[in-house]
Amino acid sequence: MLALTACAAGHPQSTLSTDGSAAREILALFRPVFWLALGVFVIVEGALLYAVIRFRRRPQDGIPLQIHGNTPIEIIWTIVPAVVVVVIATLTFRTQALLVKQPAESLLVRVTAYQWWWEFEYPQYNIITANELHLPAGRDVRFELRSADVIHSFWIPRLSGKTDVVPGHVNSMTFRPDDRPERIMLRGQCAEFCGGTHAMMALWAVVEPPADFEAWVRQQQQPARVPAEVSQGRPAGVAVQTQPSPAATAAAQLPMSLEARGYRLFAEKGCIGCHAINGYPNAVARVGPNLTHVGSRQHIVAGWLENTPENMRRWLRDPGAIKPGNRMAATIKPGTLTEDEIAALSAYLEALK
Ligand code: CUA
Repeated sequence: MLALTACAAGHPQSTLSTDGSAAREILALFRPVFWLALGVFVIVEGALLYAVIRFRRRPQDGIPLQIHGNTPIEIIWTIVPAVVVVVIATLTFRTQALLVKQPAESLLVRVTAYQWWWEFEYPQYNIITANELHLPAGRDVRFELRSADVIHSFWIPRLSGKTDVVPGHVNSMTFRPDDRPERIMLRGQCAEFCGGTHAMMALWAVVEPPADFEAWVRQQQQPARVPAEVSQGRPAGVAVQTQPSPAATAAAQLPMSLEARGYRLFAEKGCIGCHAINGYPNAVARVGPNLTHVGSRQHIVAGWLENTPENMRRWLRDPGAIKPGNRMAATIKPGTLTEDEIAALSAYLEALK
């Protein structure tokens, strides 16, 4: 086990290397408790081994001396553990008080856990995104944690401890990512068994300098990109009007790009029934992740796959093969979409930067 722990290059989910205030407070509690526990272990096991070896029965020994009770020893072994427990309790209450302290001003992020992905809403900025959590370095963040279905647990080990996400109840969590000049990506993970592919319910937290965060906010606030041919008067799925403008006539004569075909297929193939895209007519559902800027995310499938055109096509071809039992796999089976449609939808989604 010790040898295997060395395999995780860069310690993406280590609680022993911290990048935020809550994780650091918890580590500061873990250390003294660990050393106290180690001391208890060494003393108790050492005394046991010593007694077993030193006082073992030898062939010439008869029945050992029979005793009952020893008041001084009993007093010692009651008081010493009581002191150890009081010390641990005091340190724990201190850490708990620090963790629930609410800062005067903070960034609010509403987290909603779904089987098996994460929705992140920034009400102060009017942004909804999924699976990739952007946080400004050095600023307090308060999370409201809700579940859409079963019990999940929100955990980004290098930033904070885990907090359960419980249906019908709002939990909260507060921490401040460390102030640092460079952008870092930290992996998070659902930490409560929540069904078939619980293990694939990951997320990525992007901690970035405030200026980069502001730029991300401005980009996310934009409505989704509309393919040029669509915005230039050849509406998706709608026949060209009887008296089109010269520009629209010119556009209508060009072969339609993959991206524009993907735009049209997004409604025709029913993607719109589950996914929202801001600016796309009637795409407002919140059953699946909001895709307004899906092309700007570094991962798809709840942090599981790198966001590449090839992975996007793999996902659209057979979502159930990648993530068995997920909701999209109930409608999209191998063959539901033709290769041509997959290429078009993938081109459209990847262009949503
Ligand atoms: Cu969600 Cu495990």
